[in-house]
Amino acid sequence: MEKREEEKMQVTKTVKETREIVKAWKKEGLTVGLVPTMGFLHEGHASLIKRAREENDRVVVSVFVNPTQFGPNEDLEAYPRDFERDSTLCESIGTDLIFHPEPEDMYDSPCAYVSIEKLSDNLCGKTRPIHFRGVCTVVSKLFNIVSPDRAYFGQKDAQQLAIIKKMVKDLNFDIEIVGCPIIREEDGLAKSSRNTYLNTEERKAALCLSKSVAKGQEIIREGMSADELLKEMKMVIEAEPMAVIDYVSAVDALTMEHVDIIDRPVLVAMAVYIGKTRLIDNFSWEPAE
Ligand code: PAF
Repeated sequence: MEKREEEKMQVTKTVKETREIVKAWKKEGLTVGLVPTMGFLHEGHASLIKRAREENDRVVVSVFVNPTQFGPNEDLEAYPRDFERDSTLCESIGTDLIFHPEPEDMYDSPCAYVSIEKLSDNLCGKTRPIHFRGVCTVVSKLFNIVSPDRAYFGQKDAQQLAIIKKMVKDLNFDIEIVGCPIIREEDGLAKSSRNTYLNTEERKAALCLSKSVAKGQEIIREGMSADELLKEMKMVIEAEPMAVIDYVSAVDALTMEHVDIIDRPVLVAMAVYIGKTRLIDNFSWEPAE
């Protein structure tokens, strides 16, 4: 890998200038890693950027709260934003370029979208019907704008990661998709930009998600019925009065279809409302060789 000189981080707002910078890097034979984000970065994002830094000559972070992945009654307006802070964090980890476009520059009365079938039918796709179409569309656009060699996504959004891997395969994007582990707070809560919505009481209640994940990891075994597993996991969440379950499900890790028996690689995932805030968490499991 080319030794990176300590250059000042650049910030672009337009597709054109971003393409020009990346084109110049590619001309020099440099590899490019992309970390797509919606900003309000936390240690989860930082871990993706660090990994991209290790594996690529140049690192691009996109900061864009993508309107097409929010439903009409969701938190697009309220979604936390702090570009100054994001910028400082990115620079401290060695980001070369932040792409920070305006919605008008990304979407000009669009007619073309990228949607994915089947994998978006369950889990978050059920409660958020247009969400993954918006994600696939913006991620495809970012791939076309940045032309990365590798792109980095967190396993906290496990369905998103599975969907993007399948999209890349189906549409022949020549990009390696790298999934990175969930980063948690000391007490177990998975890091999320949406954790900032929680008041003190809700923050405590939110621990029922990671406790339920820990319960699942403790009791899961090959041949177990999914119902038995999920019943125990739901009991942990239901013990918390402020929690309302959206779903707790066990699905095939590749197809995202519900499984009855734990007999193959599975994703065990949940979405739970704590007050008005919808939080997600999950773990993956596979049978021993
Ligand atoms: O995971 C996210 O933050 C978003 O869904 C992504 C991948 C940046 C697309 O907007």
